[in-house]
Amino acid sequence: MEADKTGRQVVKYTFYKLDTTAFLRLPEVKQRDAKLDFIDTVRGFNRRMLLRSYSLVGMRRDVDFLLWTVAEDVEAFQQLETAIRNTALGPYLDVTRSFLSGTKRSMYDISLPEDAGGASAEERIRIEPSDSRYLFVYPFVKTRAWYALSQEGRQAMITEHIRVGRKYPDIRLNTTYSYGIDDQEFVVAFEGDDPHDFVDLVNDLRFTEASMYTLSDTPMHIAIAMSLPEMMDSIGGAQVSDLVDDDVTEVGGWLPVASLGELSPDSALRVYYGTQQVALFRANGHIYALNNRCPHARGPLCEGTLHHENGTGPAVRCPWHEAYFRLEDGAVLSGPSPRGVATYRVRVEGDTIYIARREESETA
Ligand code: FES
Repeated sequence: MEADKTGRQVVKYTFYKLDTTAFLRLPEVKQRDAKLDFIDTVRGFNRRMLLRSYSLVGMRRDVDFLLWTVAEDVEAFQQLETAIRNTALGPYLDVTRSFLSGTKRSMYDISLPEDAGGASAEERIRIEPSDSRYLFVYPFVKTRAWYALSQEGRQAMITEHIRVGRKYPDIRLNTTYSYGIDDQEFVVAFEGDDPHDFVDLVNDLRFTEASMYTLSDTPMHIAIAMSLPEMMDSIGGAQVSDLVDDDVTEVGGWLPVASLGELSPDSALRVYYGTQQVALFRANGHIYALNNRCPHARGPLCEGTLHHENGTGPAVRCPWHEAYFRLEDGAVLSGPSPRGVATYRVRVEGDTIYIARREESETA
């Protein structure tokens, strides 16, 4: 069977441990400089990937913080790691654990018979984190006996599993696949705001039949979501969160996302604005920024075709089912999309393209 690779992403959970003995003995000014260098370097990768930061200080002795990254290619992860090593904090950091995986359409029906909907296959191939306070993440391996069961037998157990999960609607699951690219088979990452809910959910899942086919599901981690400066302060030493802005994407600020040289005329480029994928277009001498996901079935607009329509201005045709969107305001001009697509404000300074989220009143 031909695998559909369109829209799939690669995912990496990288856990760092700080050499506290060496780092906390540095003069404060060096601690501060090292943290600021780390923050600045990691933020520079906002253009290339979706990036979430978490502290585990006080949760486990073998890890201090976690970067959850989602990208289109594994090279982005390699480049981020090289850049982190080259920061002033790099010599004091050790990657004690990491999980590499990719998104994939589930081979099971993940809706329940009584559902009207449930998570769609498209939703499973794009990661879109929520704003939950906690991330619970662990590697997961099934027994080989699981794979010897019939599809119907496995589907029945998956359905039971999903039914238990639905009892905890505030817990959100992100399952990604590691077959052949890392030691585990899956990485399981739950988002939630109450650790007790998660304890109760995992407790309940132990009583399902599918649990008999778990070979391993440790180590387990609870991680607390924080901005990069807050995460840096959680590791101890000189404080920096008062010195740097919060994540500009949380307050609707301007974010540098690309250089003009990266976006040639009549082309498109995918960038990130916090957790959002944004498609930049350069057409008719202007630069436009639209949410990259088509509202119809989440097709990647940056892979669409540019059209210069008479009277309506430049437009992009979605590569999946040919909905047309006007670049100026994201309005749907034709095709199956039920609505237009969100646009961003764009500013160019020197060679740098900045984008900012629009106010609610501007998008109404
Ligand atoms: S996904 Fe864009 S038109 Fe269907």
